[in-house]
Amino acid sequence: MDYLKAFEAIVLQQLARVEKMKSDTDFINYQALDKIIIGVIGGDGIGPAITAHAHRVLAQLLADEVKSGKVQFKTIDGCTIENRAAAGKAIPDDVLAEIKKCNVLLKGPTTTPRKGDKWANVESANVAMRKELDLFANVRPVKVPELNIDWAFFRENTECLYALGSQGVNINDELAFDFRVITSPGTERIAKLAFEYAKANNKKRVTIVTKANVVKATDGKFLDICKQVGEEYPGIEVDDWYIDIMTAKLIDEKRRSQFEVFILPNLYGDILTDEAAELQGGVGTAGSANIGKRYAMFEAIHGSAPRMVEEGRDIYADPSSVIRAGAMLLSHIGYQEKADQLYSALEKCTVTEKKLSITGRPDGSTGAQIADYILAETGK
Ligand code: IPM
Ligand code: MG
Repeated sequence: MDYLKAFEAIVLQQLARVEKMKSDTDFINYQALDKIIIGVIGGDGIGPAITAHAHRVLAQLLADEVKSGKVQFKTIDGCTIENRAAAGKAIPDDVLAEIKKCNVLLKGPTTTPRKGDKWANVESANVAMRKELDLFANVRPVKVPELNIDWAFFRENTECLYALGSQGVNINDELAFDFRVITSPGTERIAKLAFEYAKANNKKRVTIVTKANVVKATDGKFLDICKQVGEEYPGIEVDDWYIDIMTAKLIDEKRRSQFEVFILPNLYGDILTDEAAELQGGVGTAGSANIGKRYAMFEAIHGSAPRMVEEGRDIYADPSSVIRAGAMLLSHIGYQEKADQLYSALEKCTVTEKKLSITGRPDGSTGAQIADYILAETGK
């Protein structure tokens, strides 16, 4: 293999992506569409079970809109690890074509194969979907009112080590390279979204997280561009932290509640948001919005838990993460009031009142019971 040629191809591909980003249009206005198509992707493992409950909740909340034809649900099957491994693709072509016919997506977890397990080592469906649909912002809110924690993470979602995660090179048995990509337009768009969010929500502080003291070219660029964007928001204080000390500060009881909005490159965002979600009660409680200018996808941040299915326990899986993702979806497409109804029902059912508890086993409630409980609280 000619490595220099392979590298040249990668560079050209990324330069083309930069040009495309520069010519990108504004965000789609969902309410201006004649019809909003919501795709529902069950995924695999516990995905189909928990996503079906979230689908049911959204369908109830949007019943009038579905009746009038303003909203249509579209179930998309086939994004399973079996099909993906058989097709040798992160997302089979026919599934991707169906996905692209939708405006927004609600997605269950999808199994990510890793080297050495029983599946073909295809790219993660999450990562592929984020890249295919250019879902550049991964927005992950974490709230723990009793600890005075109210954080919003803006994780860049298409670059960093993920951009070419499946295009690394084994030069020989002893030498391997992966490539880390950071671009100016890619950083600018995530930074703008974070600062706009901060401004709209009256946040006083935005924190940029990198390791720019060591990873100088890419993190250096990320930090510079975020700071430049920050200059356009004079009322907001900007600070920057290195990822190592940031992970420590999230568990520093004296400091952590001072943080509000974070901007991070992809991999640091992946790691830090799991830590943050753990403080809220675990990754099973967190929802995540993957936002692009044309499409948006909403999902749980946890995995597909295949063992629960093997042991026949998928009916006991907690659907509240995907239901929370559904609330984020409602807000994103312009149904803020319904989103608020769902958020407060979730808060009541999973935190304050908590009449039912879920253990993932027959001694706890089923996902269906949890969904019914939440629906009853929304008044639907
Ligand atoms: C997440 C997940 C994914 C990621 C995996 C499944 C590829 O951990 O959404 O945080 O690393 O982004
Ligand atoms: Mg993760």
